[in-house]
Amino acid sequence: MSAETVEKKAPYVIEWREGFKIGIAQVDQEHRHLFTLVRALNLQSVQHTVEELLDYVVTHFSNEQDLMESSGYPAFDQHLKLHEEFGAHVADFLGNGEDWSEERVQELRRFLNKWLIGHIMTHDLRFGKWHAGQKALKAAPPAPRTVAPQGFFARLFGKH
Ligand code: FEO
Repeated sequence: MSAETVEKKAPYVIEWREGFKIGIAQVDQEHRHLFTLVRALNLQSVQHTVEELLDYVVTHFSNEQDLMESSGYPAFDQHLKLHEEFGAHVADFLGNGEDWSEERVQELRRFLNKWLIGHIMTHDLRFGKWHAGQKALKAAPPAPRTVAPQGFFARLFGKH
């Protein structure tokens, strides 16, 4: 049995890791739940689990987009496009008319895990960093006012 065959037959399961966090609690919690739903995909209940998963994906995308839009995220449009492309890809996969099989469930799980990790660790993380930067800016104390030099300093630097 070749290494490729072994890899194909092994269940493709990826657990949520702390390293997937982007630093926005609600988004992290939703991502975590997405991993749980992907993990739960199995041939016996595939119709139900796929429906539940896609329903939650829509909820998550919508929440994340609202947060991006309301915070003025400059790359919002590009991010929205990525979410739409994901939707189109999944629709193609589900609409190809094939019957469900272990292999097909495995293929879906593999695609979802890879897409989620790639998307979260690149694009969602970029948003997380930007969001943290915005929070830090808002929390920073106001810049000190410039005080006109007085006394010795006035004589030294300014008032002649
Ligand atoms: Fe968490 Fe952009 O999806």
